This record gives sequence, C-alpha cells and structure tokens, in this order.
Amino acid sequence: MNKSIKLIKFVVFLLFTQSLTAGEGMWLPLLLESLNEDEMKNMGLKLTAEDIYSVNKSSLKDAIVHFGGFCTAEVISNQGLLLTNHHCGYGQIQSHTTLENNYLKDGFWAMKKSEELPNPGLFARFILRIEDVSADMLAGVTDNMSSKVRQSQIDKNMSMVRAKFEQDLPAYDDVVIRPFYHGNQYFLFITRTFNDVRLVGAPPEAVGKYGSDTDNWVWPRHTGDFAMFRIYAGPDNLPADYSPDNKPYTPKHSLPISVDGVEEGDFTMVFGFPGRTNQYLPGSAVKQTVEVLNPAKISIREKALGIIDKYMRNDPQVKIQYASKFARVANYWKKWIGESQGIKTTDGLGKKRDLEAEFTKRINANPKQKAKYGNLLGDFDQLYKDIEPYALSKDYFDEVVFRNVEILRAAGLAGRMVSAFENNGAEGYNNMKQRLKAGYFDGFYKNYRPEIDQEVFAALLSMYKENAPFKGLSSPMDKMMGMRDGMGDFDALAEKLYAGSFMTKQAEFEKVMAMKPKEVVAAIKADPLYTFTTEMEAAYKDIVEGKYNAYNTEIAEKQRLYMEALITVFPEKKMYPDANSTMRITYGQVNGYTPRDAVYYTPVTYLDGAMAKYKPGDYEFDMPAKLIDLYEKKDYGQYAAENGKMPICFIGSNHTTGGNSGSPAIDANGNLIGLNFDRVWEGTMSDINYDASICRNIMVDARYILFIVDKYAGAGHLINEMFLVNPKKMAEVTPTPPVIPKKNKKKGKIRIKAPDPKQ
Ligand code: ARG
Ligand code: ASP
Repeated sequence: MNKSIKLIKFVVFLLFTQSLTAGEGMWLPLLLESLNEDEMKNMGLKLTAEDIYSVNKSSLKDAIVHFGGFCTAEVISNQGLLLTNHHCGYGQIQSHTTLENNYLKDGFWAMKKSEELPNPGLFARFILRIEDVSADMLAGVTDNMSSKVRQSQIDKNMSMVRAKFEQDLPAYDDVVIRPFYHGNQYFLFITRTFNDVRLVGAPPEAVGKYGSDTDNWVWPRHTGDFAMFRIYAGPDNLPADYSPDNKPYTPKHSLPISVDGVEEGDFTMVFGFPGRTNQYLPGSAVKQTVEVLNPAKISIREKALGIIDKYMRNDPQVKIQYASKFARVANYWKKWIGESQGIKTTDGLGKKRDLEAEFTKRINANPKQKAKYGNLLGDFDQLYKDIEPYALSKDYFDEVVFRNVEILRAAGLAGRMVSAFENNGAEGYNNMKQRLKAGYFDGFYKNYRPEIDQEVFAALLSMYKENAPFKGLSSPMDKMMGMRDGMGDFDALAEKLYAGSFMTKQAEFEKVMAMKPKEVVAAIKADPLYTFTTEMEAAYKDIVEGKYNAYNTEIAEKQRLYMEALITVFPEKKMYPDANSTMRITYGQVNGYTPRDAVYYTPVTYLDGAMAKYKPGDYEFDMPAKLIDLYEKKDYGQYAAENGKMPICFIGSNHTTGGNSGSPAIDANGNLIGLNFDRVWEGTMSDINYDASICRNIMVDARYILFIVDKYAGAGHLINEMFLVNPKKMAEVTPTPPVIPKKNKKKGKIRIKAPDPKQ
C-alpha cells in the first residue's frame, strides 16, 4: 500500500473510532437527521431520526415530558404511567408524608387508581413540535447595532412570531421561544401541559435514596432512584384541572421496557430536558468559576449543612422536615467540589487555553475575522476581572440571604405583600397574599425549625461580613450590633431578631395574617427581621446589583459574538447548543472509566454491592428487611441478569446535566433500558468542559425498577400496564421481528417486541 493511502486510512480510522466513542453533545431532536443520524447509526442505533422525532406520526418524543419544569419523566404505559426519579418526586412524596404515614421511610404504593395522590402545582409538559424561527427572530438585526437596539428589535420580532403561532392555540398549549448558541439562533416549541399528575408509587428511601449524600454523585452506585406518577386528563383526553372524575391519559407513545439488560459498548441515548451548561466559556471565566466562585459557595453551604445535619441526626421529626431541603443544598455543594476538582485533574483550563491559542492563530491569518473577533479574548479577560468582586458578592448574597437562611427568604417574600399594598391597595395585597400563601407560606412552617435556622443565621451572616468583597454590604448588621467595624456577637443578634419577630412562629404569623390589610402591612414593617432583610437587600442593590447587571450584559453580548466566532473559525467542529431547559437528545455507549491511575470502574453494579455497603440502622446505608430477604433467596424472578445477579445501576458516556434526571436511557431499538439520575464525581465538570475519558452519566437499570415494583412492593398491577420486551434475545432467535402483540395480558409474561419505537 502506498504511504499516503495508508495515512489517509489511518486518519479515517481515527475519525471513525473517535466518533464511535464520542458522547459529547446535547442535540436538538429536529436536527438529528441532518447532524447526528449517521453517527448514531454507526454507533448502533437501529431507528431513524424520524422514529425519534416526528411531527407527523407518533415518535419517541411523544413519551417524554418536562416534569414540573425541573426534571424529565417518560410515559411507560398506555394509561399515562410516568417514570421519573425518586429525587424528582421527593417534594411530592415528602408532602404526603407524616410520622404515621411515613412514605419517605416506608415507600408508597397505590394499589388501585383511587389511591393515587394528587399534587397541586405539579405538571407534565409535552413538546408537540419544534420550529427553527431564527430568520424571523433575527430579521432587521445587524452586526453594528448596539446590544440595546438589537435586543429591542428581537423583542419586537418575538411578539410577532409569538402572535403568529399563538393563533388558535387552546389554553393548555403554549408557545415557548428560546435563544440557542447564545442568541445566534432561535427555536420555538409548542407545548401541551397536563396539571393533574398523581403520585403512584415510590420505594422507601433506603432504596430510592440508598447511600444518600455520601453516595450522591458517586460511582459505584447502588441507588434505585425512581418513582412513578400518572397523568390524568379530562374526558376528551385533553389537559384538565384536577378532578376526581379525570381519567388516566392515553399517550401518543409509551416506551416499551427491555428486560435484556446492557453490556459494555451497547448504544444508549438519553432523551430529556437538560437545564444549563456553559461549554463555550472563555478560559478566564472557567478559572473564576473554579478558583473563586465555587470555593465561596462551597464554604457557605458546608457551614449550613453541618448545622442542619447535627439536628437531623438527633431528631426523627427534624429528619423528615429537613430531608428535602438538606438534599437540595447538599447536592450542588458536592457537585461544585467535584467540578473544580475535575477541571484540575483533566487540565480543563489548559485545554481552554490551547483552544484559544489555536483560535488566535487562525484569526490572525484572516484579516476579516481578526477585525471582527480579534479583541474578544482580551475583552473577556478584562470583563471577568471587573465583574469578579460583584459576582462574588452576588453569590454571597444569594447563598446567604436568598437560600440558606430560611427566614430571610420568608421575610423577603412577606415584603412583597407590603409593596403590593403600597402599589395596588387592598386588592393587590389580597392577590399577593393568596399567591404567597398557596405557593410558599402554607408549606413553610410545616418544615421550619426556628432554632436550627437561628444557628444557621448566626454562622452565615458572620461569614458574609467577613468575606463578601464590599464592607458596605454588612452595614445594616453593624448598625444593629451597635458597632462600626470588627466582628460582633452574631449569636446575640440572631437571638434578638428571632425572638422579636412574629415570622419565626407560625401561630403569631397566622394571627397577623388574619388582621386587616393595613394592619398586616404595619406589622410586617415593624418586624425586626423584615427591617433587617430590607436593609441588607438595599445595601446589596446599592453596591452590587447595577454594576453586576451592566457587566453581565456586556459579557453576554461578547459571548454571543464568541459563539459565532467559534462556529466560524472552527468549521470542522460540530457544535451543539448549550443546554437551556429545552428538549435534547444525547447519545453514547455503556462504558466504564478510569477514575485514577491503575483503577478501572466496570459499568454495572449489583445488589451484592448494596449488601456490601449495608449498615443496619444507619442514616444512609440501612436496607429494608424484605429486600435483604429477596437477596438471600435470590428471588429475582425474570429480572435477574444472565449471571444470576440483580443489577442496580449502570453508567455510560451520555452527556447529561441537571434537568436530565428522570430521563429515559433508551436502547438502539427505542426501548427503555434505564433511568438517568446522576453523573460520576470525577466528571461533574461536564457542564463546563465535557471530557469523554471520565464523564459518565449514572442510570438505574430498568430491571431493578421492575424487580422493586413487582417483587418488593407487590405492585404487579403496574407491571401489567407496561410493555416488557426482549430485543436482544429476539435478535438471537430470528432476524425478522415477529408481530407485536397488542395487549398485555398476564403479569410476568414477556412479549417479544420488534425494533420499532411505536406500539
Ligand atoms: N446528584 C443528582 C442530581 O443532581 C441527584 C441528587 C439527589 N440526591 C441527593 N442525595 N441530594 O440531581
Ligand atoms: N441529578 C441531576 C438532575 O437532577 C442530573 C445530573 O446533574 O446529572 O437532573
């Protein structure tokens, strides 16, 4: 073979093998055909892009919903049964939990439809269709417009596009328009929202949250992080407000479930609603995130979590009350630690710098590009330097005043009643009061312990004073503590404010709320915690907010241009848009990884591994007696793996992020094989800098879900609703797929299913 042919073959081989292991990217379903279909087929996909996303016929997308706007769920039966994560339904499970009916601890299973529990406020949102509206949205926009003029042109265009698509839409359908590629493209989504979504089942925490915060973001993992809900519809199968007369929804598509399991190398795709990524940041921004902002947020949360943990371990009532809040705060605390670490171990910063060097080299060779993009990287360096103290102050303020001291958030919300009254009189006040009551205060006191919060207050405000970049930010505290500078007695301040406020005690709060609007407003205004919060907020607004927003607008504008520049300057790279809570598909393979030198993690865990971690009576690693019994008898029914063991989780190279929780992991034929819920610790930096060597998503094996529902919970009626299939076994038996049986008749019977996404 001649040398150059050899070289070409080698390059082609490299490209091919590279794309075979590639997992990076969150792709738009309607662009799969043009951008991804070939690669997906090379990796093993047996479906067409049209089987995955179609507006004309039912397709996989019709089984996927945005769950409450923060997670994903999928339809797994023709009666609207939804599968999502335990941690996605956690707030709902907790809201139905009491010490007597402890659904968190013991699990919950509706044995018939009438026992399924409604959840006010929870919704399931389908995507009916997606359209590229870039041309209309960017009509009249030119390169030399200022960002303000540009934005107002886009706003004008948006109202026109919206009006055009909104015509004739029923009230339960909506138009959502979102910028992609940092404002270089726009896509429109027609959505359909169901508001009657009921809780059907959840395993006990010892399964659904096994390993809790110690194992969160960690592989090897043994968590059965799933829960089931059901969509209910009106008599016409269309969205309707909750009513006991509503009927289970009949979907356009529901996912068959494969019980054949996975092996290393199998094709997988994950379909869902990833929330936010920042893949195209300049190095200066990444450096600031991992070196300045993450450490500040981590230390604040660490402090708050330490205090709450102490109380939770000592009091089972507190454990229930604070479980959901604790998990939420702990989740990103741990993620940020992994993210900063991952960027260091994979030299994410060095890679950004290399890319920027290549970028500079290329534009220097192209005068036109140099003129347009030449200053960008230098501008970023300066802007990120300028914004740093403001960004840091914002993080401090948000973490302390908005998130981790509960009563400050409550006082801030109470303040909205004051402004509603002052701006719109008694009517405005009443509206606001109703909204806050239903959306916040009705649930607040049920899970509130002022003594815990008071301790968090003292600890966090002392950190705020010590570390927030501008001294003026703590002037309200200094004033109240009667001093000009230096550290004061935060415990005494907390004691004084918490004792003196009506907001820390439910009975007093309700007494005040029962008064006339004018009196309520006067009482709020006279409250010491309200005064404190208002003054802290005023200091923050005065010193930080304006400057922060101004820098941020400039950065966003540069980021848009930088995105355009990257696409132009690197035409050989296929670039996906950052996540923005819109429907996406990511695909990869079942793959282990090497977390550190000489260690290889295999991609599947088993119940044996959960048993090995079992600590009787432990807060995180206890296991239910019945599960241990099933394990000891190896009573796994049809759900055991070929090696006779019970699989729990597996990992793959699918590129996921927050919001992808509850997303289905789907095999090459369109069957559900797992349920996405997490990522591995070493790869949590995938939001900023995906690295195929260590970024893995974690999924619960579908067989473990079925085993828990069937064998553990005895909820076989739910299995009967589902459509279980054997795609792998079938492929061994016959190359031509047999006819698909229409109905599920007997529990436990596995039907053979053709490689076709529709039933
Ligand atoms: N880390 C996962 C995600 O970001 C799961 C979080 C829920 N579990 C927990 N222990 N907090 O949502
Ligand atoms: N656990 C995340 C979620 O709730 C998923 C992730 O960040 O990987 O969406």
